[in-house]
Amino acid sequence: MLETAELIDNGQAVLLTFHQGEQRRFHGIWLRDNAQDAATRSPDNGQRLISLADIPASLRLTEARIEAGRLIVAMAPEAQEFAYDGAWLWKHAYDREPPSRRGWLDTRTETWDASLAKRLPSADITALGNDDDTKRRWLADIRRYGIGKLTGGPIEDGVLLDIVAQFGFTRETNYGRYFEVRSEIAPTNLAFTGLGLPAHTDNPYRDPAPTLQLLYCLENSAAGGDNRVVDGFLAAQLLHEEDPHGFELLASYCARFEYRGLGDVCLQARRPIIELAPDGEMIGFRFNNRSAAPFSDIPYADMATYYAAYRRLGEILESPEMGVTFKLAPGEAFLVDNTRVLHARTGYSGEGSRWLQGCYADRDGLLSTLACLEDAA
Ligand code: FE2
Repeated sequence: MLETAELIDNGQAVLLTFHQGEQRRFHGIWLRDNAQDAATRSPDNGQRLISLADIPASLRLTEARIEAGRLIVAMAPEAQEFAYDGAWLWKHAYDREPPSRRGWLDTRTETWDASLAKRLPSADITALGNDDDTKRRWLADIRRYGIGKLTGGPIEDGVLLDIVAQFGFTRETNYGRYFEVRSEIAPTNLAFTGLGLPAHTDNPYRDPAPTLQLLYCLENSAAGGDNRVVDGFLAAQLLHEEDPHGFELLASYCARFEYRGLGDVCLQARRPIIELAPDGEMIGFRFNNRSAAPFSDIPYADMATYYAAYRRLGEILESPEMGVTFKLAPGEAFLVDNTRVLHARTGYSGEGSRWLQGCYADRDGLLSTLACLEDAA
């Protein structure tokens, strides 16, 4: 797919022409830093064996040619040649306009509203453990939608930890490796009472906040107690459409979150409600009214407008067309991407019983498992 190579900018870069005339430029320093030879990259683990200080600052390209679909470049003053696979160069090309839209999303992410109810990602818990295709599809759905249900599990204490072990690692917190969600006589946290809970992400007062949460149902005969999930990224996009300035305020200033529990727990974090990467990609969402501490990082001149945007975001999150509601049966569970998808609970009565167990885990382990399954497929 690689056709021609031409030195440009006095040997500082090379202009490559791929099939169908597509052109991409690559800098000499970038090519040297990303050389594929065994002295630069470990053939065993792919890790870089040189540092930038090992590369002469005066580096320039002295020759570029194509051989059997590979780019061959010679460099001075090292007087070395390096070879690059054409498909690898195409995959890693960076010669394009940077994204201009604030709040853009990775192509593997898809926002959703209440209509996801008809096709809510779901997998059988036994199949998740036995069948790599099932696991790969379900994990890819978590990456795309940030939510997935599980069905057909045993009614056993602690089985949620075995589910997490299918794709990653449990994150232990002051609530333990996992925690019980049911009515208690003297609740220490609102989650352990029968009150309804508005849509929220969990534990924004941690740094970093847990990136996955699994909730597993052991009993659910109480009236009410339905679960509702909402896509925070869609809510942020809708806010951006109707109030770009409000979106910018929620993305630009840090909110504060805090939890003071019994004993020696005082967790505090300072992060924006809508988190953007420096190039504008939307990468995080934190919304938890119960855990919000006094906001003290927003200038006086912006505070009233900030609150208006914060209020509007809450209205969007609670609107019926945004959320998917379901009631878990015993042996069922759901996993949410806690950096994006909010969960809520309708109130439940004291009649019957409701017993869920919850735990936290992290996306990096899940995405690693998924990447390996996709490589093997
Ligand atoms: Fe929660």
